[in-house]
Amino acid sequence: MKLKHILTSQQFTVPVIMELFERTRFMKQIVARGGTSDYSNKILTNLFYKPSTRTRFSFESAIFRLGGKVLSTEQANEFSSEIKGEMLEDTIRITGNYCDAIVIRSHEEGGAKRAAEVSSVPIINAGDGSGGQHPTQALLDLYTIYDECKTLDGLSVAIIGALDQGRTARSLAYLLSKFDRIKIYFIAPDELQIKPDILAHLDEKGIAYELSNSTDKIINKVDVAYQTRIDNERIYDQKIDLNQYNIDAEVLKKMKQNSIIMHPLPRSVEISHEIDSDPRAAYFRQAENGLYVRMALLTMLFDK
Ligand code: CP
Repeated sequence: MKLKHILTSQQFTVPVIMELFERTRFMKQIVARGGTSDYSNKILTNLFYKPSTRTRFSFESAIFRLGGKVLSTEQANEFSSEIKGEMLEDTIRITGNYCDAIVIRSHEEGGAKRAAEVSSVPIINAGDGSGGQHPTQALLDLYTIYDECKTLDGLSVAIIGALDQGRTARSLAYLLSKFDRIKIYFIAPDELQIKPDILAHLDEKGIAYELSNSTDKIINKVDVAYQTRIDNERIYDQKIDLNQYNIDAEVLKKMKQNSIIMHPLPRSVEISHEIDSDPRAAYFRQAENGLYVRMALLTMLFDK
């Protein structure tokens, strides 16, 4: 199945997701044997207006492992002609002449969609604005859940953090809503809780959810704890103790033995390093999966 652009999680149907996961497993084998030259005629552009470690490097590694090449700019707001006043649309029209797909991390919500409207080559949304989406992250998150839990149905998932602006949280909620008997717990300080558009989507899909401002009574029930960062400066009520959202050895003791802890990373203090060696800590395996999932996505964009 060929994809045109990758802009949101909603665009992925369950059959497309299952094809992606099948390709992802194959890509893991390809990497284990050192890569392929099957896509040696392909050039990928990475256009990153905001900082990134995992997304940018894993896309670069993905195209190299597929045999292709990359054109890349970080800090595109400074190192591209945007600084001379060039509109995003012109940058995309021009860059599309030099490559076969463009990965964009835009500082603006809707930036990837704007790019797709004028692009002659596939656009991949690598995170847009502060309240947009990060669909390739959510796909690798979902793949990790499937790989670790062996199912996507009947799971209880806690999504924790500053959820109102959490691109990965938003994109993952959309993907989880495609599966049966899912229960999502959104755990955040009240002022940073998930936005109503996501809840309206879950209502429409008949997905069970609960909102909470504490992990305390919930963490023992979940199969997946999906942790994200809360920036101190976003908390207006200084009485809120952010430590109550952290996962450390004490919290881990309350979790099910077969549960997993995920994080899109980078982390700050919200997951204690002392639990990194626990088998339930899945976040580094999750980041590794990003390479295989992004290779698989590129093949789905490139294949005829
Ligand atoms: N998870 C994620 O998007 O990480 P980076 O910001 O490092 O790309």
